[in-house]
Amino acid sequence: MSVVPNSGNGKVTVPDLLQRKTRAAGSHPQTERITCLTAYDYPTARLLDEAGVDVILVGDSLGMVVLGHETTLPVTLDEMLHHTRAVRRGTRRALLVADMPYGSYHTDTAESLRNAVRFVKEAGAEAVKVEGGERRLELISRLTEAEIPVMGHVGLTPQSVNALGGYRVQGKTPGAAEQLIRDARAVEASGAFAVVLEAVPRELAAQITQELRIPTIGIGAGPDCDGQILVLHDLLGLTFNQTPKFARQYANLGQIITSAVREYCTDVRTGGFPSDAESYHAPQAAKGRKTIFIAG
Ligand code: KIV
Repeated sequence: MSVVPNSGNGKVTVPDLLQRKTRAAGSHPQTERITCLTAYDYPTARLLDEAGVDVILVGDSLGMVVLGHETTLPVTLDEMLHHTRAVRRGTRRALLVADMPYGSYHTDTAESLRNAVRFVKEAGAEAVKVEGGERRLELISRLTEAEIPVMGHVGLTPQSVNALGGYRVQGKTPGAAEQLIRDARAVEASGAFAVVLEAVPRELAAQITQELRIPTIGIGAGPDCDGQILVLHDLLGLTFNQTPKFARQYANLGQIITSAVREYCTDVRTGGFPSDAESYHAPQAAKGRKTIFIAG
């Protein structure tokens, strides 16, 4: 039995998102852009969902911002399933997309399909995301044939960090831009319902967005995409490394947490916490006795 809540009452679905394609030639300029954020646990999923985010991605950025790895490469299928289940419990309205981690779709197609099915059956994901363009044509087709909606991801694909030689803006030469356009076209042709464009020049993202019929979701790809995604911890100021130039920080929760924890420590050390009001009290009848909980 699926664990996906019933649709209706504003539930965001894959067909809804396809209708939100805004930036193609001839489309309605008033259509709202798609909002996407990452989440990795129940409380943040609930907060994002209740704040009205359209798409919640359980990104494999989990590895870097939650698990403390240097890249996304060590993240396992079991870790992604575990966190997707937690996010599922906190998500009712948003579309829940799970990132397939490195190694879970890089061997044979049958195994990749079995792994993707686990996200839907065991963790309640409504779609999966895979990185790569032309070289994922067969895989994306196979997943969509199996009724699993797929979000593509081209441009800077963090799982390719070793092959790319670092986290760099992609598509900057004419040849690289051509390849990126071919990658985005391949993702669309293979049946994906949306594609993430990461760290690509604004002009190239705008061109791809104009051309494709499926929505483009930008991260470091400028304002002309059909939607935007950020890593939640970048937006909240909960990361420890330098954030990329495209990651706008809307709050500094790191600072808020540090000062709350310091205040707590001071209160405990000085006897300011807990107060009498934060303590339980013995029943009225027992009051006044020296030892109230020991019989006799
Ligand atoms: O893993 C992730 O968080 C992502 C988004 C940044 C698109 O892939």
